[in-house]
Amino acid sequence: MNRRQFLLRSSASAIALAFSSRSMAAMPAAHTMPTASAPVPLMAADAIPAGSPLAPLSRLANRSKRIGEFRATLEAAVHEVTLVPGINTTVWAYQGAVPGPLIEVMEGDQVEIRFINRLPQASTIHWHGLPVPPAEDGNPWDLVPPGGERVYRFTLPEGSAGTYWYHPHPHGDTPEQVYRGLAGVFIVRARHDPLAGFAEQHLVISDLRLDREGRIPGNTAEDWMNGREGQYVLVNGQREPCITLAGRQRLRLWNACSARYLRLSLGGMPFWLVGTDGGLLEAPQRMSELLLAPGERAEWVVDGAPGQVVLTALAYDRQKMGEVADERDWPLARVEFVPGPRPELPSRLRSLEALSGVAARQRVEFSETMSMENGQHEMAFLVNGKAFDMNRIDLVGKVGRVEEWELVNDSHMDHPFHLHGTQFQVISRSEEGKDVAEPFLAWRDTVNLAPQQTVRVRLRQAFSGLRMFHCHILEHEGQGMMGVLEVKP
Ligand code: C2O
Ligand code: CU
Ligand code: CU
Repeated sequence: MNRRQFLLRSSASAIALAFSSRSMAAMPAAHTMPTASAPVPLMAADAIPAGSPLAPLSRLANRSKRIGEFRATLEAAVHEVTLVPGINTTVWAYQGAVPGPLIEVMEGDQVEIRFINRLPQASTIHWHGLPVPPAEDGNPWDLVPPGGERVYRFTLPEGSAGTYWYHPHPHGDTPEQVYRGLAGVFIVRARHDPLAGFAEQHLVISDLRLDREGRIPGNTAEDWMNGREGQYVLVNGQREPCITLAGRQRLRLWNACSARYLRLSLGGMPFWLVGTDGGLLEAPQRMSELLLAPGERAEWVVDGAPGQVVLTALAYDRQKMGEVADERDWPLARVEFVPGPRPELPSRLRSLEALSGVAARQRVEFSETMSMENGQHEMAFLVNGKAFDMNRIDLVGKVGRVEEWELVNDSHMDHPFHLHGTQFQVISRSEEGKDVAEPFLAWRDTVNLAPQQTVRVRLRQAFSGLRMFHCHILEHEGQGMMGVLEVKP
C-alpha cells in the first residue's frame, strides 16, 4: 500500500464515522448532513435478465392541437415495476416509467407542462441544460409539495436544438429522488436538421442498486463520499440490451447516472461525435472512445460492417476515496450491425459563434475538506470554500455579458461541473499544469474536472434571476457542492 492509498483508506474510516447516526444528531442545524444507511446484501448482478432487444423510450404525448405548442402533464408517483422476474421493485417515476418519458419538441415551441407531485416528498422539475427562465427551471426554492402541482411554461428559442434531460432539484432530496427513478430525457429538434435523414436511436444510461429483496436501498456513507453506483447499469431501463443498427445511424446518449463515469467505447470501433449537450458541432469528430461524466450527453453517428460489438463503459479511475473495488470494463449493450441505408454525413453540420469579448471573469473552485467538529470527523464538499446556502448569492453575473469562468478542482477526486440556464464553450483544459486549448467548439452545460485540473469556459446568460451551479455527482450536490449565481438584468 503506498502512502496515498493509506491516507485514503484511513480517511475512509474516519468519514464513515462522520456519517454514523450519533454524529448526525450532533450536527449543527445549518449543515444539511445526510443520514447514511448501513450497506446491505445485494441482489445478484445477473438477476435482471439481459439480452432483450432495446426498447424505445416511452413518450410524453402532446395534448395540444396547435402547431408550435407542446402541452402535457407529468406526474411523479410511487410505482411498482418488475425488474427481476417474480419480484416487485418500488420506484419513484414520472408517468410510471424508468427512465421517464421522452419529451420531444421543436425549436420555437411554447412548452406547457403541468407537474403533479404524488411523491411523499416535495420536488421540482429541473430542465437540465435548457435555456428556460429561472422561475420555470425547478430551482430548490420553488418546491412543489407532496400532493401539489404547478405548471412549467417556457418557449425554446431558435438555436436550442439539442439533447437535454429533466430531473428533480429539491435541496437535499435530489440524490434520493433520482436514484429511486426520477429522470427523463428531452430532445429539442431543429427545423433544418442536417442529420434529419438519419435513423435515430436513444440510449439513456442509468444506474441502479437493488438489495436482495429487490428494494432500492438508501445511500451508505461510502455513497455520500464517492457518489452512488449500483450493481446494475441500465440502458433505457434494460440490462445489456441488444441494439440493432441498420446502416448508418444517429445515436443520442445520456449519462443519467448519479455518479458513474462512462468512458464509452464501441469495442474500439471508430464513430463520429456530431453533437454535445447543447446540440450539433460544426463538424463531425472521428473518435473511438468518449468520456461522458454524470449529466453529460452526446450525439454520435455510427456505421459498422455487419457483425457484433459491445458498447462498453471502459474502466475509468475517478480517484474515489477509500477502499473501493477496482474499476473494470462494464458491458452496456450488444450492438449488432446489419445492412441498411447509409445517408451521407455532411462535413459541415452548422456554424457556431465562438464567444469572444470577455467582459467579466468568475472563478469556481471545488474542494473537499475533512474537519473535526464537536469531536466528530466531518466531510464537506465545498464551492469556493463554502457549502451551499439557499440564502446566499455566491456569484453575480449580468444578462447578455460574455463571461469567462475558471473552474478549478482543488481536490483529489473527479467532479463534473454543471451550470443552469445556458450552455458554455470550453476554451481550455489544463493538463499537467499547462492549459491546452479545446480542439473544437461545442455547446455544453456539464464538463468534467479531473483532480487538480483547471477548465476555462465562456458563457452568456439570457435571463435575469437565480441559477445554480454544482457538481453533478448528485451526492456531492446534495451535500452542498453547489452555489448560486445571480444574473442581474
Ligand atoms: Cu442536472 Cu442542477 O442539474
Ligand atoms: Cu441542470
Ligand atoms: Cu463531486
